[in-house]
Amino acid sequence: MKKIVTLLGSPRANGNSSAIGSVHGHLMKTKKPITDITRKRHSCRTYSTRPVEKDLKERLEQFLSDSPAGPFGSRPRFKLITTTGEDRDALKDLGTYGFIKDPAGYILSAVKQSPRDLEDFGYTMERNILYATDLGLGTCWLGGSFTRSTFAEKIRASNDETLPAVASVGHMAPKMRIMEKALRWGAGAENRKPWKDLFFNNGFNGPLSPEDIGKWAEPLEMVRIAPSASNRQPWRIVRESATMRFHFYLQRTKGYQTRNKMLFGMADLQRVDMGIAMCHFEMTCNDSGISGKWSFDEPDIGTLPELTAYVASWQPSL
Ligand SMILES: Cc1cc2nc3c(=O)[nH]c(=O)nc-3n(C[C@H](O)[C@H](O)[C@H](O)COP(=O)(O)O)c2cc1C
Repeated sequence: MKKIVTLLGSPRANGNSSAIGSVHGHLMKTKKPITDITRKRHSCRTYSTRPVEKDLKERLEQFLSDSPAGPFGSRPRFKLITTTGEDRDALKDLGTYGFIKDPAGYILSAVKQSPRDLEDFGYTMERNILYATDLGLGTCWLGGSFTRSTFAEKIRASNDETLPAVASVGHMAPKMRIMEKALRWGAGAENRKPWKDLFFNNGFNGPLSPEDIGKWAEPLEMVRIAPSASNRQPWRIVRESATMRFHFYLQRTKGYQTRNKMLFGMADLQRVDMGIAMCHFEMTCNDSGISGKWSFDEPDIGTLPELTAYVASWQPSL
């Protein structure tokens, strides 16, 4: 059945503040344009011991409690846990396998199970990440390197809720640890796939370059530089020139999910990645004054590549 969620366009306000839009029109002011925030964000795994100031903490908490439903209609709940400098050790027991050093806190989430819960979770959690980045904080998505049961206790997850991932948060240390540098190198964290591997025109065989599509180049570029689990970048987008719709597809990494689930009990993180891509695309559109809506009726664009499945389409308002 065809389902359409209407999104309110939220052009950037005058001056240097910007608005993060959402499916319910909850607009949140950010100091910088979304493109600057998106470019600035990177995974931070080494934090300074400086606690998060009361004012920043309260703003982030407020943002989490106002979190809207995702494009598919489910509404994950979020909770910020932080420590002061002295009781920082309390967070150590939560368990991040040594990947994360000295975070001031974590953004926890619990998600009720539904068919597109993970995409909605990716979308809403990434909104939090962008907001924290705008506040000047470092963050890191954790979908594997965290002990699910201890974090679940902290958010009092009920039986019908899951914890697909959490995020560490805090002021960034001036220098990364050697381990973090090695980890980034191993994941190729600085690298992203080129346009030709990600974005297409009128089917998966048509090339699409930034020069061809004017104002749409930025929203796509913000998808390209988004974070993804193990930096696999599973998003593929096909532009339909006749309708100007952008169709989002998940192209799975072979064996990735089966292995992660079997060995580590992880959630299907590539679906979370799709929600992140949708968030970046929509936030950038809103910030540039391009309004539109998500629709979920799969187009007929011919044969899809192997391991590829349709997720959603962005329909600009005419
Ligand atoms: C859904 C998701 C799960 C992730 N899980 C982890 C994790 O468990 N441990 C970790 O160190 N990084 C994790 N990351 C961070 C990615 O490795 C990182 O985003 C990617 O390598 C790109 O680097 P960047 O975020 O610095 O741009 C995760 C990212 C996403 C989006």
